Amino acid sequence: MNRKVDIKTYLSEKKRLVEDGLETLMLKADGPFAGHIEAMRYSLFVGGKRVRPILCLAAGEAIDNGQNTGQSLLPVACALECIHTYSLIHDDLPAMDDDSLRRGKPTNHTLFGEAGAILAGDGLLTLAFDLLSDPRHTAIPAERRLKIIQTIARAAGPVGMVGGQALDIANENSTYPFTTLQTIHRSKTGALITASVLAGAIGAGASAGQLERLTQYSDRIGLAFQIVDDLLNATSTTEQLGKAAGSDADRGKATYPAYFGIEETKEKAKEAVAAAVAALSDFDDKADPLRQLAEYIYARNH
Ligand code: IPE
Ligand code: IPE
Ligand code: MG
Ligand code: MG
Repeated sequence: MNRKVDIKTYLSEKKRLVEDGLETLMLKADGPFAGHIEAMRYSLFVGGKRVRPILCLAAGEAIDNGQNTGQSLLPVACALECIHTYSLIHDDLPAMDDDSLRRGKPTNHTLFGEAGAILAGDGLLTLAFDLLSDPRHTAIPAERRLKIIQTIARAAGPVGMVGGQALDIANENSTYPFTTLQTIHRSKTGALITASVLAGAIGAGASAGQLERLTQYSDRIGLAFQIVDDLLNATSTTEQLGKAAGSDADRGKATYPAYFGIEETKEKAKEAVAAAVAALSDFDDKADPLRQLAEYIYARNH
């Protein structure tokens, strides 16, 4: 494996690219909807690691067929970040996890009110599909774009992220079997992560076989991502995380540490990452950023 990819540099370069893309594509806060757009922009630009858009771009690079798909994928990457940001705004609402800190700053509803935050989330979700479907933004052929839209819509919806959020809330303070815990993690967090990888690969023209292996890879990193989110919630500090630490236990959430304890949970996350990397064994060194991203997901501290 080519070990030349420095993941820190890679992450910061891609993050800048995504943030420039968001700045270009995002609505400006003027005109009659300025207040609503301001609320959307607040959560979108307040911070964030930009993991999903970076995974999308890295998957495109892993497939790269010499068509310079990076630029074409940027609106897709930005749309994924809009959907993710919407999910955080709604996740933090008093009726959901009731959090007042996110990305190191006050949560959306704390500043814009509950109605404003609900609508900011609705706006970001809907805008994402505008970005994905507008042919002016991308050179990705229409047929591939349609497949990307369907993949993301399925992942973000009732049998993906939204369904997972519903299960997460329904299982607060309850006794649940391991299969329910896995379903919650794979759907509330894993589904959009998988869709991010697949969207990048589809945009770059991946074959059915490549998509199958990337599905295995991303299913495992998606699971690992939420396991690590649970671990950090249980072991880190609010200052480090930029969001409330210890809140999962307070709310009686279905989490890996609650189910297995800290040490076994760490092992499970490590196993998921190793399995993710193993799923890429047929890929050449263009997939090194994806390999390193899997390791970063385990090693991250916020
Ligand atoms: C947090 O996601 C919510 C989960 C789905 C676990 P991230 O850890 O990617 O949050 P940001 O975007 O960096 O703030
Ligand atoms: C967030 O899950 C999942 C989505 C927003 C879809 P959590 O509620 O566990 O994430 P944090 O810890 O608030 O970021
Ligand atoms: Mg939640
Ligand atoms: Mg939460």
